[in-house]
Amino acid sequence: MESSQFGTLEDGTKVEAFTLKNTRGASAKVITYGATLTELWMPDRTGKLGDVVLGFDNLQGYLEKSNPYFGATVGRVANRIAKGKFSIDGKEYSLEINNPPNNLHSGPKGIAHAVWKAEPLHEADGAAVRFSIVSPDAKEGYPGNLSVSVTYRLTNNNELKLEYTATTDQPTLVNLTHHSYFNLGSSSDILGEVLYIAGDSYTPVDSTLIPTGEIQSVKGTPLDFTHPTAIGAHIAEMKGNPGGYDHNFVLGGTGKLKLAARASDATSGRQLEVWTTEPGVQFYTGNFLDGTLRGKRGVVYGQHAAFCLETQHYPDSVHHPNFPSVILRPGETFHSETIYKFSTQ
Ligand code: BGC
Repeated sequence: MESSQFGTLEDGTKVEAFTLKNTRGASAKVITYGATLTELWMPDRTGKLGDVVLGFDNLQGYLEKSNPYFGATVGRVANRIAKGKFSIDGKEYSLEINNPPNNLHSGPKGIAHAVWKAEPLHEADGAAVRFSIVSPDAKEGYPGNLSVSVTYRLTNNNELKLEYTATTDQPTLVNLTHHSYFNLGSSSDILGEVLYIAGDSYTPVDSTLIPTGEIQSVKGTPLDFTHPTAIGAHIAEMKGNPGGYDHNFVLGGTGKLKLAARASDATSGRQLEVWTTEPGVQFYTGNFLDGTLRGKRGVVYGQHAAFCLETQHYPDSVHHPNFPSVILRPGETFHSETIYKFSTQ
């Protein structure tokens, strides 16, 4: 495994990069800032490697407020918490409102914006690095000192395996996700890529993207990906400001490793399967990308330049007792796994 310096924060903290390589030529580059995946090189059907995730060439891009969480490890709580307020055991807590009127991805002091400790691991099947961080009590507004780890493993089977753990010293909330933006081909958008989602229901949202609490069938709606369908086939029917997909699909089976989704690109032949122990997956089509971000190798990222499949507990779960709980208590260990598995057709 190679390690190098990726950049330095204003306060002098160094950000390191690790490149995991496998025996098939694939590689994954991860940095200690946000335990972020910055590059993922996977073969097309001819064996030619391509970088299948969006990101920036240098640290500055990741530090900007405009960085839409490219490749980041998001927590303590991914997605939105209504009005940035919640209570646990009758005690109320407030978070920053960074996506009015809500909190999104735990705000600017969240672990996606912090430098993690890294520990390269030497394992039999491929390369791995474990990142860990302590999110201090009250820093982002959440109770408890939360110790989080995420291990990235690149196997010789072209799987990027993510394993998360978290423990706390006070009852708190945990909902960790990985926020890569994937484009499996070389087109400037993903509308022609085909998607299957292994969930026949979703959590509808209000105009501020907060779940209403209902769990609704996708049947007869543009959210029906229970049969492989081009992402662009019905996207125009997804009204909103901006339009597109930004929804949590219900997978169920918390704790059980199961297929969440399969995406493919006919031109490159690349296929991506997402497996997870999480009960939901947020399918997001880069609706807020608007051509103002210039990413790696000078590429301008326009709307729908990529898709995210963020495995997670449902958004705003703390306000919905019918959703699987995101409360973690002292003495418990949160554990989850997500696998991004690449192949070609
Ligand atoms: C959210 C989007 C948001 C994006 C970038 C996704 O997880 O669902 O609404 O724009 O993250 O922050």
